Amino acid sequence: MSKNYNQAPLPFQGQKRRFVKHFKESLLNYNDSYLFVDLFGGSGLLSHTVKSVFPKAKVIYNDYDNFKQRLNAIENTNIIIAKLRELLKDYPRGKRITGTHRDKVLNLLKEADNKGYVDWITISSSIKFSMNYGVCLKDFTNDTLYNNIKLSDYNADGYLQDVEIVNKDYKSLFNQYKETNNVVFLVDPPYLSTDSSTYVSTGYWKLQDYLNVLFVLVNQNYFYFTSNKSQIVELCQWISTVSSTANPFANAVRTDVNTNLTHKAKYTDIMYHYKK
Ligand SMILES: C[S@@+](CC[C@H](N)C(=O)[O-])C[C@H]1O[C@@H](n2cnc3c(N)ncnc32)[C@H](O)[C@@H]1O
Repeated sequence: MSKNYNQAPLPFQGQKRRFVKHFKESLLNYNDSYLFVDLFGGSGLLSHTVKSVFPKAKVIYNDYDNFKQRLNAIENTNIIIAKLRELLKDYPRGKRITGTHRDKVLNLLKEADNKGYVDWITISSSIKFSMNYGVCLKDFTNDTLYNNIKLSDYNADGYLQDVEIVNKDYKSLFNQYKETNNVVFLVDPPYLSTDSSTYVSTGYWKLQDYLNVLFVLVNQNYFYFTSNKSQIVELCQWISTVSSTANPFANAVRTDVNTNLTHKAKYTDIMYHYKK
């Protein structure tokens, strides 16, 4: 039996780990004969979850960010982190890395960079402040570093086994499958008003792009993810007061998950599920 992951095997901002349980429960409305298309695949966590519930179903994961490249680099990432761990073994955990330790850490990163591809996002989790991600060497040489070294190796064995991987704009993927019988679309676009600097699409997601995604929900089976921070729900409620047929969530089932980042930063993540 392959391993079940309740979160992505590598750090990924916006992964739907808090919804895995609710998502699995709602998936029971379907079966192996459905086709699942993960339009905004991200870390692939939703695709993985569908496969774990319906091993025989066809699941298409849109790997727009090339997360696969990060998975393929895990061996190298573990080697870099093991070297960092050795360098910092006597250094206090959670503390700023300064002086010769900082110089040594940066030399190690420069060396790794010269050798080829480095999964900077994952390295960030070990030597940057929590939730602060870099995507290139400069994001480390120009920033304060902290000793948050991960103590165990990363592992993604079997994570995307038998999932079909594509890499394209969500619109063309949707057009390819929108007429298919028994298709379910997983729709988890970047949030409006959140930091998406670790995604390849920075700059693309303006209000209009965000609203255009709603067209894929019309007359389809879908799971749609959003947050009360994005105000899309409020906007759709307003639309429904103007035209009762225009609210794409009118007959969908809503599930909320409350998140407390700190006692001041609270928000609600929302999943809408609609089955025709
Ligand atoms: C909120 S994340 C998805 C998270 C995912 N459901 C998970 O659990 O890991 C949104 C993803 O959409 C991707 N994306 C951005 N623009 C896109 C586009 N035009 N077409 C498809 N995906 C896009 C982003 O790069 C990001 O990976």
